[in-house]
Amino acid sequence: MSGRPAVFLDRDGTLIEDRGHLSHPNQVVFIPGAVEALRRLQDQFLLFIVTNQSGIAQGLLRPEAVQEVNQYIVAHLRRAGIKITDVYVCPHRRADGCQCIKPNPYFLHQAAQQYGVDLRRCFTVGDHPHDVELAHQVGGLGIYVCTGHGWKHLSELPATVSVVPDLRVAAEWILASCTGDLRGGCTAAEIGQAAQVLRSGGLVAFPTETVYGLGADALNRAAVKKIFQIKNRPPHDPLIVHVGSREQARQLASDFPDSAWQLAMRFWPGPLTLVLPKHPSIPDEVTAGLPTVALRMPAHAAALALLWETGVPVAAPSANLFGKLSPTTAAHVREQLGEKVDMILDGGPCWVGVESTIISFAHGQPMLLRPGGIPLEQIEALIGPVRIPSAEDFPGHAPGRFPRHYAPRTPLLIGLSPPRTEGKRIGLLSLLPPPNSEPFALVEVLSESGDLAEAAARLYQALRRLDQAGLDLILAHPVPEVGLGRAIMDRLRKASSRSCVNEPPP
Ligand code: TXA
Ligand code: MG
Repeated sequence: MSGRPAVFLDRDGTLIEDRGHLSHPNQVVFIPGAVEALRRLQDQFLLFIVTNQSGIAQGLLRPEAVQEVNQYIVAHLRRAGIKITDVYVCPHRRADGCQCIKPNPYFLHQAAQQYGVDLRRCFTVGDHPHDVELAHQVGGLGIYVCTGHGWKHLSELPATVSVVPDLRVAAEWILASCTGDLRGGCTAAEIGQAAQVLRSGGLVAFPTETVYGLGADALNRAAVKKIFQIKNRPPHDPLIVHVGSREQARQLASDFPDSAWQLAMRFWPGPLTLVLPKHPSIPDEVTAGLPTVALRMPAHAAALALLWETGVPVAAPSANLFGKLSPTTAAHVREQLGEKVDMILDGGPCWVGVESTIISFAHGQPMLLRPGGIPLEQIEALIGPVRIPSAEDFPGHAPGRFPRHYAPRTPLLIGLSPPRTEGKRIGLLSLLPPPNSEPFALVEVLSESGDLAEAAARLYQALRRLDQAGLDLILAHPVPEVGLGRAIMDRLRKASSRSCVNEPPP
């Protein structure tokens, strides 16, 4: 039977935050990036919601209330331009022995009959092992997300299950695997050529999910030195080493504490960098002489294809001039580095848009060195408290802790209203549309719906446009410092700091 491919989405913990038995639409909070993910999926897939609501059988929820919540979700998505074909609810308890509770594929068969879904080409996404099992029952593919209760049940999963941080990354995987695009928009010939350039000591700019990186063979000292020259980067600022697998990462660290491994299992491939005691094989040029190495397995299919093809770890900072805005498209890389690199791989725009979160395991308790693409809350939910370093932790300079970094040329001020500035051209960077845009020569809104993940994905592009508009000042409204808001505020503070970038350490 040929039919339409479909994605069956779990509701609580996958599409919306899991807040117990939801009985009213005002309790609905969409998981960051979820709406954007569905928008990308709907071009190729019918979308369904399948949810177990045993609260109904337990007398904790009225069926009408569940229906009202579901209708609200569907209507909200419709307003965002997304069509949910149907919503299926199992109201029973597991002990009731019904046919329709997950992982029984009852509703999947119903969708096949009602809407002509081809179940062999279906995906299920959810934060519970039964969401994965649901697809496997019908020959589809189940993907496990770590939002909602995902982190709690992770240990119950069979080792072969695909685990991703959230629905956004799940959507990337689904799109990549169904189009056969396992090279992130690059051709096999391009990946092959880029790998050859790296193996022969050259430099390749390549896409990752966060920002574009400027890569060299991490085990080739001369190649690594070229990165510093081209970027004009001070030699005391160490590089992140990118790996194609967790196993490769393990071989590059002389110690991999349990909690670091837990993070690697959960968030790799993804926007997380782990600083660990280094293996002697890593040259000092990469780590700036430090006894530690920063490791990350990126999630962009082109980056992974390159790492697999090359077979060596790849040292790569962001592919911009030191202290300048990070590039989130191949065009940005061309603008800043152009002819200076041997090859630029174009894998489209980066979808996370801010650099990876860096967690150090160098000094006992894990420490946050840089907020980034994985929210601190998700990390702490898995391994417990992470130390936020204070000034005393880093007397003088420390790697990656320059106050000014990621900067536009135009002065940037964080605040709610501009200082007195008659006759000056001021641009505004704001999470939401401002009530009054009249005083501003240019307004960049990061997310119409206030979604911090969407805002992060657009941050550097927006700053770039503001920087090119011939303004006297950029006013940036502060954003809430939760989730990805922490990374956004960190970059804005660094962009606003007036101190010098290039000071060597004392
Ligand atoms: O998302 C990302 O992390 C991107 C993409 C390309 O992977 N890369 C990136 O690299 O942002 P870069 O060089 O712009 O920032 C790396 C940061 C620097 O602040 C550096 O000081 C810090 O990582 N770092 C590297 N090795 C370290 C180490 N051994 N100890 C402490 N910090 C380290
Ligand atoms: Mg769930």
